[in-house]
Amino acid sequence: MNRASISGVTLAPTVLILAAGQGTRMRSRTPKVLHELCGIPMVLWPVRAALTAGAGRVVVVDSPERALESVLPEGVQLAVQPRTDGTGGAVVAGVAQLDSAGAGDNAPVVVLSGDVPLVSAEAIDELVRAHEESGAGATMASTVLDDPSGYGRVVRDQHGDVERVVETKAAGDATPEQLRIREVNTGIYVFAADALREVLPRLSADNAQGELYLPQTLDLIRAGGGAVAAHTIADRRLVLGVNDRAALAQVRGLAQEAIHARHTAAGVSIVNPGATVIDVDVEIGQDTVIEPFSTIKGHTSIGAGCTVRHSYLVDCVLEDGVSVGPFAYLRPGAILRRGAKAGTFVEIKNSDIGPGAKIPHLSYIGDADVGEGTNLGASTITANYDGVEKHRTTIGKRVHGSVHVSLVAPVTVGDDAYTGAGSVIVEDVPPGALGIARARQTNKAGYAKQPKDESLNSERR
Ligand code: UD1
Ligand code: MG
Repeated sequence: MNRASISGVTLAPTVLILAAGQGTRMRSRTPKVLHELCGIPMVLWPVRAALTAGAGRVVVVDSPERALESVLPEGVQLAVQPRTDGTGGAVVAGVAQLDSAGAGDNAPVVVLSGDVPLVSAEAIDELVRAHEESGAGATMASTVLDDPSGYGRVVRDQHGDVERVVETKAAGDATPEQLRIREVNTGIYVFAADALREVLPRLSADNAQGELYLPQTLDLIRAGGGAVAAHTIADRRLVLGVNDRAALAQVRGLAQEAIHARHTAAGVSIVNPGATVIDVDVEIGQDTVIEPFSTIKGHTSIGAGCTVRHSYLVDCVLEDGVSVGPFAYLRPGAILRRGAKAGTFVEIKNSDIGPGAKIPHLSYIGDADVGEGTNLGASTITANYDGVEKHRTTIGKRVHGSVHVSLVAPVTVGDDAYTGAGSVIVEDVPPGALGIARARQTNKAGYAKQPKDESLNSERR
Protein backbone atom coordinates (compact mmCIF):
# COMPACT_ATOMS: atom_id res chain seq x y z
CA MET A 1 0.00 0.00 0.00
CA ASN A 2 1.39 3.41 -0.88
CA ARG A 3 0.19 6.87 -1.67
CA ALA A 4 0.01 6.26 -5.37
CA SER A 5 -2.46 3.45 -4.77
CA ILE A 6 -5.04 5.87 -3.42
CA SER A 7 -6.75 6.56 -6.69
CA GLY A 8 -7.86 10.02 -7.65
CA VAL A 9 -6.46 11.71 -4.56
CA THR A 10 -3.92 14.33 -5.38
CA LEU A 11 -3.03 15.02 -1.76
CA ALA A 12 -2.25 12.13 0.55
CA PRO A 13 -4.83 12.16 3.34
CA THR A 14 -4.19 13.66 6.74
CA VAL A 15 -5.04 11.20 9.50
CA LEU A 16 -6.28 12.32 12.93
CA ILE A 17 -6.28 9.66 15.62
CA LEU A 18 -8.51 10.47 18.58
CA ALA A 19 -6.91 9.28 21.78
CA ALA A 20 -7.49 11.87 24.50
CA GLY A 21 -10.38 10.14 26.27
CA GLN A 22 -9.99 8.85 29.81
CA GLY A 23 -11.28 5.38 29.05
CA THR A 24 -13.23 5.24 32.33
CA ARG A 25 -14.81 1.91 31.38
CA MET A 26 -11.35 0.28 31.56
CA ARG A 27 -11.17 1.06 35.30
CA SER A 28 -7.45 1.71 35.04
CA ARG A 29 -4.86 4.29 36.05
CA THR A 30 -3.28 3.82 32.62
CA PRO A 31 -4.88 5.78 29.75
CA LYS A 32 -6.96 3.36 27.67
CA VAL A 33 -4.98 3.67 24.45
CA LEU A 34 -1.70 2.93 26.29
CA HIS A 35 -2.92 -0.53 27.30
CA GLU A 36 -0.69 -3.08 25.63
CA LEU A 37 -1.94 -5.00 22.62
CA CYS A 38 0.39 -7.80 21.48
CA GLY A 39 3.54 -6.01 22.58
CA ILE A 40 2.84 -2.37 21.67
CA PRO A 41 0.49 0.29 23.06
CA MET A 42 -2.99 0.05 21.52
CA VAL A 43 -2.73 3.51 19.93
CA LEU A 44 0.25 2.42 17.80
CA TRP A 45 -1.96 -0.02 15.87
CA PRO A 46 -4.00 2.70 14.10
CA VAL A 47 -0.86 4.89 13.85
CA ARG A 48 0.94 2.12 11.95
CA ALA A 49 -2.11 1.44 9.76
CA ALA A 50 -2.26 5.15 8.86
CA LEU A 51 1.44 5.25 7.97
CA THR A 52 1.17 2.06 5.91
CA ALA A 53 -1.84 3.50 4.07
CA GLY A 54 0.37 6.38 2.94
CA ALA A 55 -0.95 9.17 5.15
CA GLY A 56 0.61 12.54 4.38
CA ARG A 57 0.44 13.54 8.02
CA VAL A 58 -0.57 11.68 11.16
CA VAL A 59 -1.76 13.65 14.19
CA VAL A 60 -2.61 11.94 17.48
CA VAL A 61 -4.93 13.87 19.80
CA ASP A 62 -3.87 13.48 23.43
CA SER A 63 -4.97 14.95 26.76
CA PRO A 64 -2.92 17.76 28.40
CA GLU A 65 -0.82 15.19 30.32
CA ARG A 66 0.75 14.22 26.94
CA ALA A 67 1.07 10.61 28.10
CA LEU A 68 1.25 9.36 24.52
CA GLU A 69 4.14 11.57 23.41
CA SER A 70 6.88 9.12 24.39
CA VAL A 71 5.42 6.17 22.47
CA LEU A 72 4.74 7.87 19.13
CA PRO A 73 7.11 7.21 16.25
CA GLU A 74 9.11 10.05 14.80
CA GLY A 75 7.18 12.23 12.38
CA VAL A 76 3.82 11.63 14.06
CA GLN A 77 2.51 14.86 15.56
CA LEU A 78 0.78 15.29 18.89
CA ALA A 79 -2.18 17.63 19.35
CA VAL A 80 -3.53 18.43 22.80
CA GLN A 81 -7.25 18.58 23.54
CA PRO A 82 -7.45 20.96 26.51
CA ARG A 83 -10.57 19.35 28.03
CA THR A 84 -12.15 15.97 27.34
CA ASP A 85 -15.25 17.55 25.89
CA GLY A 86 -15.98 14.77 23.41
CA THR A 87 -14.83 13.30 20.09
CA GLY A 88 -15.90 16.52 18.32
CA GLY A 89 -13.64 18.51 20.65
CA ALA A 90 -10.79 16.12 19.88
CA VAL A 91 -11.12 16.80 16.14
CA VAL A 92 -11.27 20.57 16.80
CA ALA A 93 -7.94 20.21 18.64
CA GLY A 94 -6.43 18.11 15.83
CA VAL A 95 -7.46 20.57 13.12
CA ALA A 96 -6.19 23.53 15.20
CA GLN A 97 -2.82 21.78 15.48
CA LEU A 98 -2.66 21.30 11.70
CA ASP A 99 -3.53 24.95 11.10
CA SER A 100 -0.99 26.24 13.62
CA ALA A 101 1.68 24.05 12.01
CA GLY A 102 0.82 25.68 8.66
CA ALA A 103 -0.42 22.32 7.41
CA GLY A 104 -4.04 23.31 6.91
CA ASP A 105 -4.30 22.22 3.31
CA ASN A 106 -7.17 20.65 1.42
CA ALA A 107 -6.13 17.03 1.84
CA PRO A 108 -9.01 14.80 2.92
CA VAL A 109 -9.08 14.24 6.67
CA VAL A 110 -9.34 10.66 7.86
CA VAL A 111 -10.46 10.29 11.48
CA LEU A 112 -9.53 7.13 13.35
CA SER A 113 -10.04 6.20 16.99
CA GLY A 114 -7.15 5.19 19.19
CA ASP A 115 -9.46 2.57 20.68
CA VAL A 116 -10.33 0.90 17.33
CA PRO A 117 -6.95 -0.74 16.90
CA LEU A 118 -7.45 -3.43 14.28
CA VAL A 119 -8.29 -1.05 11.43
CA SER A 120 -6.07 -2.03 8.51
CA ALA A 121 -4.22 0.06 5.93
CA GLU A 122 -6.38 -1.63 3.28
CA ALA A 123 -9.60 -0.62 5.06
CA ILE A 124 -8.40 3.00 5.30
CA ASP A 125 -7.45 2.98 1.63
CA GLU A 126 -10.82 1.48 0.67
CA LEU A 127 -12.67 4.14 2.67
CA VAL A 128 -10.68 6.97 1.09
CA ARG A 129 -11.44 5.60 -2.38
CA ALA A 130 -15.16 5.32 -1.57
CA HIS A 131 -15.10 8.92 -0.31
CA GLU A 132 -13.39 10.20 -3.45
CA GLU A 133 -15.84 8.34 -5.66
CA SER A 134 -18.95 9.59 -3.87
CA GLY A 135 -17.76 13.19 -3.69
CA ALA A 136 -19.55 13.47 -0.34
CA GLY A 137 -18.69 16.00 2.36
CA ALA A 138 -18.14 13.09 4.73
CA THR A 139 -18.00 9.33 4.46
CA MET A 140 -18.49 7.28 7.58
CA ALA A 141 -17.38 3.67 7.88
CA SER A 142 -20.20 1.56 9.28
CA THR A 143 -20.64 -2.11 9.99
CA VAL A 144 -23.44 -4.40 11.12
CA LEU A 145 -23.00 -6.12 14.48
CA ASP A 146 -25.01 -8.90 16.12
CA ASP A 147 -24.49 -7.15 19.43
CA PRO A 148 -24.30 -3.41 18.74
CA SER A 149 -24.45 -2.36 22.39
CA GLY A 150 -22.26 0.60 23.28
CA TYR A 151 -21.93 1.83 19.70
CA GLY A 152 -23.56 4.80 17.98
CA ARG A 153 -26.31 3.58 15.61
CA VAL A 154 -26.67 4.66 11.99
CA VAL A 155 -30.10 6.12 11.28
CA ARG A 156 -31.03 6.09 7.59
CA ASP A 157 -33.85 7.97 5.86
CA GLN A 158 -36.52 6.45 3.63
CA HIS A 159 -34.10 6.50 0.66
CA GLY A 160 -31.50 4.56 2.62
CA ASP A 161 -29.22 7.59 2.92
CA VAL A 162 -27.45 8.25 6.19
CA GLU A 163 -29.45 10.72 8.23
CA ARG A 164 -27.48 10.77 11.44
CA VAL A 165 -25.79 8.74 14.15
CA VAL A 166 -27.43 8.39 17.54
CA GLU A 167 -25.33 7.71 20.60
CA THR A 168 -26.21 4.98 23.10
CA LYS A 169 -23.54 5.21 25.80
CA ALA A 170 -25.79 7.28 28.08
CA ALA A 171 -29.57 7.03 28.26
CA GLY A 172 -31.43 9.86 26.59
CA ASP A 173 -29.86 10.12 23.12
CA ALA A 174 -31.49 7.12 21.40
CA THR A 175 -35.10 5.99 21.29
CA PRO A 176 -35.96 2.32 22.04
CA GLU A 177 -36.59 1.89 18.31
CA GLN A 178 -33.14 3.27 17.42
CA LEU A 179 -31.58 0.93 19.98
CA ARG A 180 -32.74 -1.96 17.80
CA ILE A 181 -30.62 -0.77 14.83
CA ARG A 182 -27.66 -3.07 14.28
CA GLU A 183 -25.74 -0.90 11.83
CA VAL A 184 -23.14 0.99 13.86
CA ASN A 185 -20.76 3.90 13.40
CA THR A 186 -17.23 2.49 13.55
CA GLY A 187 -15.74 5.84 14.61
CA ILE A 188 -13.78 5.94 11.33
CA TYR A 189 -14.55 8.68 8.80
CA VAL A 190 -13.15 10.63 5.87
CA PHE A 191 -14.06 14.31 5.62
CA ALA A 192 -13.57 16.82 2.84
CA ALA A 193 -11.33 19.34 4.63
CA ASP A 194 -13.48 22.39 3.84
CA ALA A 195 -16.74 20.68 4.88
CA LEU A 196 -15.17 19.64 8.20
CA ARG A 197 -13.74 23.09 8.91
CA GLU A 198 -17.08 24.69 8.17
CA VAL A 199 -19.16 22.61 10.60
CA LEU A 200 -16.72 22.10 13.52
CA PRO A 201 -17.40 25.50 15.12
CA ARG A 202 -21.12 24.70 15.14
CA LEU A 203 -21.01 21.49 17.22
CA SER A 204 -23.12 21.70 20.36
CA ALA A 205 -23.03 19.82 23.65
CA ASP A 206 -26.78 19.64 23.82
CA ASN A 207 -27.04 15.86 24.32
CA ALA A 208 -27.17 13.18 27.04
CA GLN A 209 -23.45 13.33 27.85
CA GLY A 210 -23.06 17.10 27.47
CA GLU A 211 -20.17 16.51 25.05
CA LEU A 212 -19.29 17.57 21.53
CA TYR A 213 -20.15 14.46 19.50
CA LEU A 214 -18.14 14.16 16.29
CA PRO A 215 -21.04 12.39 14.49
CA GLN A 216 -23.03 15.63 14.80
CA THR A 217 -20.81 16.92 11.98
CA LEU A 218 -22.73 14.55 9.71
CA ASP A 219 -26.09 16.19 10.60
CA LEU A 220 -24.56 19.63 10.07
CA ILE A 221 -23.03 18.74 6.69
CA ARG A 222 -26.38 17.32 5.57
CA ALA A 223 -28.29 20.33 6.90
CA GLY A 224 -25.95 22.57 4.89
CA GLY A 225 -26.85 20.71 1.71
CA GLY A 226 -23.78 18.47 1.61
CA ALA A 227 -23.90 14.73 1.11
CA VAL A 228 -22.98 12.16 3.73
CA ALA A 229 -22.07 8.67 2.60
CA ALA A 230 -21.63 5.46 4.55
CA HIS A 231 -19.17 2.82 3.49
CA THR A 232 -19.74 -0.61 4.98
CA ILE A 233 -16.71 -2.45 6.24
CA ALA A 234 -17.59 -6.09 5.77
CA ASP A 235 -14.94 -7.49 8.11
CA ARG A 236 -16.35 -6.34 11.40
CA ARG A 237 -13.29 -7.57 13.27
CA LEU A 238 -11.37 -4.57 11.90
CA VAL A 239 -13.63 -2.04 13.55
CA LEU A 240 -14.22 -3.43 17.03
CA GLY A 241 -13.93 -0.68 19.62
CA VAL A 242 -12.16 -1.30 22.91
CA ASN A 243 -14.03 0.34 25.74
CA ASP A 244 -13.45 -2.20 28.52
CA ARG A 245 -11.09 -5.05 29.35
CA ALA A 246 -13.43 -7.71 28.00
CA ALA A 247 -13.31 -6.04 24.58
CA LEU A 248 -9.53 -5.68 24.91
CA ALA A 249 -9.24 -9.44 25.47
CA GLN A 250 -11.48 -10.12 22.46
CA VAL A 251 -9.46 -7.78 20.24
CA ARG A 252 -6.20 -9.25 21.52
CA GLY A 253 -7.43 -12.71 20.48
CA LEU A 254 -8.13 -11.44 16.95
CA ALA A 255 -4.80 -9.60 16.72
CA GLN A 256 -2.98 -12.73 17.90
CA GLU A 257 -4.77 -14.84 15.29
CA ALA A 258 -3.58 -12.44 12.58
CA ILE A 259 0.01 -12.54 13.89
CA HIS A 260 -0.04 -16.35 13.92
CA ALA A 261 -1.50 -16.42 10.41
CA ARG A 262 1.34 -14.23 9.13
CA HIS A 263 4.02 -16.54 10.58
CA THR A 264 2.24 -19.71 9.54
CA ALA A 265 1.97 -18.44 5.96
CA ALA A 266 5.73 -17.76 6.03
CA GLY A 267 6.57 -21.36 6.99
CA VAL A 268 6.59 -21.34 10.79
CA SER A 269 4.87 -24.21 12.65
CA ILE A 270 2.82 -23.05 15.60
CA VAL A 271 1.75 -26.36 17.05
CA ASN A 272 -1.11 -25.02 19.17
CA PRO A 273 -1.95 -21.42 18.25
CA GLY A 274 -4.44 -21.08 21.11
CA ALA A 275 -1.65 -21.80 23.61
CA THR A 276 1.00 -19.54 22.06
CA VAL A 277 1.58 -15.82 22.58
CA ILE A 278 3.65 -13.96 19.98
CA ASP A 279 4.00 -10.16 20.00
CA VAL A 280 3.50 -8.16 16.82
CA ASP A 281 7.16 -7.21 16.26
CA VAL A 282 8.60 -10.72 16.71
CA GLU A 283 10.39 -12.17 13.66
CA ILE A 284 10.55 -15.93 13.04
CA GLY A 285 12.35 -17.83 10.27
CA GLN A 286 11.15 -20.66 8.10
CA ASP A 287 10.81 -24.21 9.48
CA THR A 288 11.00 -23.05 13.06
CA VAL A 289 8.65 -24.94 15.36
CA ILE A 290 6.98 -23.18 18.27
CA GLU A 291 5.58 -25.75 20.67
CA PRO A 292 2.62 -25.04 22.98
CA PHE A 293 2.77 -22.76 26.03
CA SER A 294 5.45 -20.52 24.62
CA THR A 295 5.40 -16.73 24.96
CA ILE A 296 7.60 -14.69 22.62
CA LYS A 297 7.68 -11.01 23.41
CA GLY A 298 9.03 -7.65 22.30
CA HIS A 299 11.57 -7.47 19.49
CA THR A 300 12.64 -11.11 19.71
CA SER A 301 14.15 -12.39 16.48
CA ILE A 302 14.22 -16.14 15.80
CA GLY A 303 16.07 -17.67 12.87
CA ALA A 304 15.19 -20.60 10.65
CA GLY A 305 14.99 -24.21 11.80
CA CYS A 306 14.76 -23.42 15.53
CA THR A 307 12.67 -25.24 18.12
CA VAL A 308 11.08 -23.42 21.05
CA ARG A 309 9.37 -25.61 23.64
CA HIS A 310 7.20 -24.29 26.45
CA SER A 311 9.40 -21.23 27.06
CA TYR A 312 9.28 -17.49 27.71
CA LEU A 313 11.38 -15.25 25.45
CA VAL A 314 11.73 -11.47 25.72
CA ASP A 315 13.78 -9.21 23.40
CA CYS A 316 16.32 -11.91 22.55
CA VAL A 317 17.97 -13.20 19.39
CA LEU A 318 18.10 -16.82 18.23
CA GLU A 319 20.15 -17.55 15.15
CA ASP A 320 19.33 -20.52 12.90
CA GLY A 321 19.01 -24.02 14.34
CA VAL A 322 18.75 -22.99 17.99
CA SER A 323 16.93 -25.21 20.50
CA VAL A 324 15.17 -23.67 23.51
CA GLY A 325 13.34 -25.27 26.43
CA PRO A 326 11.24 -26.81 27.70
CA PHE A 327 10.93 -24.25 30.50
CA ALA A 328 13.61 -21.77 29.45
CA TYR A 329 13.47 -18.04 30.20
CA LEU A 330 15.45 -15.94 27.74
CA ARG A 331 15.62 -12.31 28.82
CA PRO A 332 16.62 -9.11 27.03
CA GLY A 333 20.03 -9.20 25.41
CA ALA A 334 20.30 -12.99 25.25
CA ILE A 335 21.88 -13.98 21.91
CA LEU A 336 22.03 -17.65 21.00
CA ARG A 337 24.28 -18.18 18.00
CA ARG A 338 23.72 -20.79 15.30
CA GLY A 339 22.93 -24.23 16.68
CA ALA A 340 23.18 -23.23 20.34
CA LYS A 341 20.97 -24.76 23.01
CA ALA A 342 19.29 -23.45 26.16
CA GLY A 343 17.59 -26.41 27.80
CA THR A 344 15.34 -27.11 30.73
CA PHE A 345 15.01 -24.55 33.53
CA VAL A 346 17.68 -22.33 32.01
CA GLU A 347 17.60 -18.55 32.36
CA ILE A 348 19.86 -16.40 30.18
CA LYS A 349 20.16 -12.61 30.29
CA ASN A 350 22.39 -10.16 28.39
CA SER A 351 24.74 -12.91 27.25
CA ASP A 352 26.21 -14.07 23.97
CA ILE A 353 26.09 -17.86 23.66
CA GLY A 354 28.42 -18.99 20.88
CA PRO A 355 27.68 -21.27 17.93
CA GLY A 356 26.83 -24.80 19.02
CA ALA A 357 27.31 -23.98 22.72
CA LYS A 358 25.03 -25.89 25.07
CA ILE A 359 23.52 -24.94 28.41
CA PRO A 360 21.23 -27.91 28.84
CA HIS A 361 19.95 -27.87 32.43
CA LEU A 362 19.12 -25.77 35.49
CA SER A 363 21.38 -22.77 34.90
CA TYR A 364 21.48 -19.00 35.25
CA ILE A 365 23.78 -17.27 32.78
CA GLY A 366 23.81 -13.47 33.07
CA ASP A 367 26.24 -10.92 31.58
CA ALA A 368 28.41 -13.64 30.04
CA ASP A 369 30.14 -14.48 26.78
CA VAL A 370 30.25 -18.19 26.05
CA GLY A 371 32.49 -19.45 23.22
CA GLU A 372 31.72 -21.75 20.35
CA GLY A 373 31.19 -25.42 21.18
CA THR A 374 31.30 -24.95 24.94
CA ASN A 375 29.14 -27.18 27.13
CA LEU A 376 28.13 -25.95 30.57
CA GLY A 377 27.07 -28.63 33.05
CA ALA A 378 23.82 -28.76 34.95
CA SER A 379 23.41 -25.99 37.47
CA THR A 380 26.07 -23.62 36.16
CA ILE A 381 25.45 -20.24 37.72
CA THR A 382 27.11 -16.92 36.99
CA ALA A 383 27.43 -14.77 40.11
CA ASN A 384 27.26 -11.58 38.07
CA TYR A 385 26.17 -9.13 40.73
CA ASP A 386 28.26 -8.17 43.74
CA GLY A 387 25.46 -6.17 45.31
CA VAL A 388 26.64 -2.94 43.72
CA GLU A 389 27.70 -3.64 40.14
CA LYS A 390 27.18 -6.25 37.45
CA HIS A 391 30.32 -7.96 36.11
CA ARG A 392 30.93 -10.10 33.03
CA THR A 393 31.95 -13.72 32.85
CA THR A 394 34.01 -14.80 29.85
CA ILE A 395 34.03 -18.47 28.94
CA GLY A 396 36.16 -19.56 25.99
CA LYS A 397 35.59 -22.03 23.18
CA ARG A 398 35.15 -25.79 23.69
CA VAL A 399 35.08 -25.45 27.49
CA HIS A 400 33.85 -28.51 29.42
CA GLY A 401 32.02 -27.07 32.39
CA SER A 402 31.08 -29.60 35.03
CA VAL A 403 27.94 -29.61 37.13
CA HIS A 404 27.11 -27.27 39.97
CA VAL A 405 29.70 -24.65 39.11
CA SER A 406 29.50 -21.05 40.25
CA LEU A 407 31.43 -18.53 38.19
CA VAL A 408 32.05 -15.45 40.31
CA ALA A 409 32.40 -12.51 37.93
CA PRO A 410 34.52 -10.87 36.74
CA VAL A 411 36.23 -14.10 35.78
CA THR A 412 37.55 -15.79 32.61
CA VAL A 413 37.71 -19.47 31.71
CA GLY A 414 40.11 -20.03 28.80
CA ASP A 415 39.54 -22.04 25.61
CA ASP A 416 39.49 -25.84 26.02
CA ALA A 417 39.52 -25.55 29.83
CA TYR A 418 37.63 -27.81 32.26
CA THR A 419 35.96 -27.08 35.57
CA GLY A 420 35.49 -29.54 38.40
CA ALA A 421 32.05 -30.42 39.73
CA GLY A 422 30.88 -28.23 42.58
CA SER A 423 33.55 -25.58 42.01
CA VAL A 424 33.23 -21.95 42.97
CA ILE A 425 35.46 -20.36 40.34
CA VAL A 426 36.74 -17.01 41.63
CA GLU A 427 40.03 -16.91 39.69
CA ASP A 428 40.68 -17.15 35.98
CA VAL A 429 41.18 -20.68 34.58
CA PRO A 430 43.95 -20.67 31.92
CA PRO A 431 43.29 -22.26 28.50
CA GLY A 432 43.38 -26.05 28.63
CA ALA A 433 43.59 -26.19 32.46
CA LEU A 434 41.23 -27.84 34.94
CA GLY A 435 39.89 -25.38 37.46
CA ILE A 436 38.72 -27.12 40.59
CA ALA A 437 37.72 -25.19 43.69
CA ARG A 438 36.00 -27.18 46.43
CA ALA A 439 36.79 -28.64 49.86
CA ARG A 440 38.33 -32.12 49.94
CA GLN A 441 36.07 -34.96 51.04
CA THR A 442 36.87 -36.94 54.17
CA ASN A 443 35.21 -40.29 54.96
CA LYS A 444 34.71 -41.45 58.58
CA ALA A 445 35.18 -45.22 58.42
CA GLY A 446 32.66 -47.32 60.38
CA TYR A 447 30.64 -44.27 61.24
CA ALA A 448 27.28 -46.06 61.11
CA LYS A 449 28.31 -48.61 63.80
CA GLN A 450 29.63 -46.04 66.31
CA PRO A 451 27.57 -45.07 69.40
CA LYS A 452 25.97 -41.75 68.63
CA ASP A 453 27.78 -39.64 71.22
CA GLU A 454 27.81 -35.88 71.30
CA SER A 455 31.17 -35.36 69.59
CA LEU A 456 30.12 -37.43 66.57
CA ASN A 457 26.80 -35.66 66.39
CA SER A 458 28.62 -32.39 66.23
CA GLU A 459 30.75 -33.72 63.33
CA ARG A 460 27.64 -34.76 61.54
CA ARG A 461 26.34 -31.22 61.71
C1 UD1 B 1 -17.61 6.58 19.56
C2 UD1 B 1 -18.71 7.20 18.68
C3 UD1 B 1 -19.75 6.12 18.36
C4 UD1 B 1 -19.06 4.95 17.68
C5 UD1 B 1 -17.89 4.43 18.51
C6 UD1 B 1 -17.09 3.41 17.70
C7 UD1 B 1 -18.92 9.53 19.38
C8 UD1 B 1 -19.67 10.50 20.20
N1 UD1 B 1 -19.36 8.28 19.42
O1 UD1 B 1 -18.21 6.17 20.77
O2 UD1 B 1 -20.75 6.67 17.48
O3 UD1 B 1 -20.00 3.89 17.47
O4 UD1 B 1 -16.98 5.49 18.87
O5 UD1 B 1 -16.06 2.82 18.45
O6 UD1 B 1 -17.98 9.90 18.71
N2 UD1 B 1 -11.73 10.82 22.65
C9 UD1 B 1 -10.97 11.96 22.65
N3 UD1 B 1 -11.46 13.06 23.33
C10 UD1 B 1 -12.65 13.03 23.96
C11 UD1 B 1 -13.43 11.86 23.95
C12 UD1 B 1 -12.95 10.76 23.26
O7 UD1 B 1 -9.89 12.02 22.08
O8 UD1 B 1 -13.02 14.08 24.54
C13 UD1 B 1 -11.18 9.63 21.95
C14 UD1 B 1 -11.05 8.43 22.87
O9 UD1 B 1 -9.76 8.39 23.45
C15 UD1 B 1 -11.29 7.26 21.94
C16 UD1 B 1 -12.16 7.84 20.84
O10 UD1 B 1 -12.07 9.24 20.93
O11 UD1 B 1 -10.08 6.76 21.40
C17 UD1 B 1 -13.62 7.40 20.98
O12 UD1 B 1 -14.09 7.80 22.26
P1 UD1 B 1 -15.02 6.86 23.13
O13 UD1 B 1 -15.34 7.57 24.39
O14 UD1 B 1 -14.45 5.51 23.21
O15 UD1 B 1 -16.31 6.86 22.22
P2 UD1 B 1 -17.39 5.69 22.09
O16 UD1 B 1 -18.32 5.76 23.23
O17 UD1 B 1 -16.71 4.41 21.84
MG1 MG C 1 -14.80 3.79 22.10
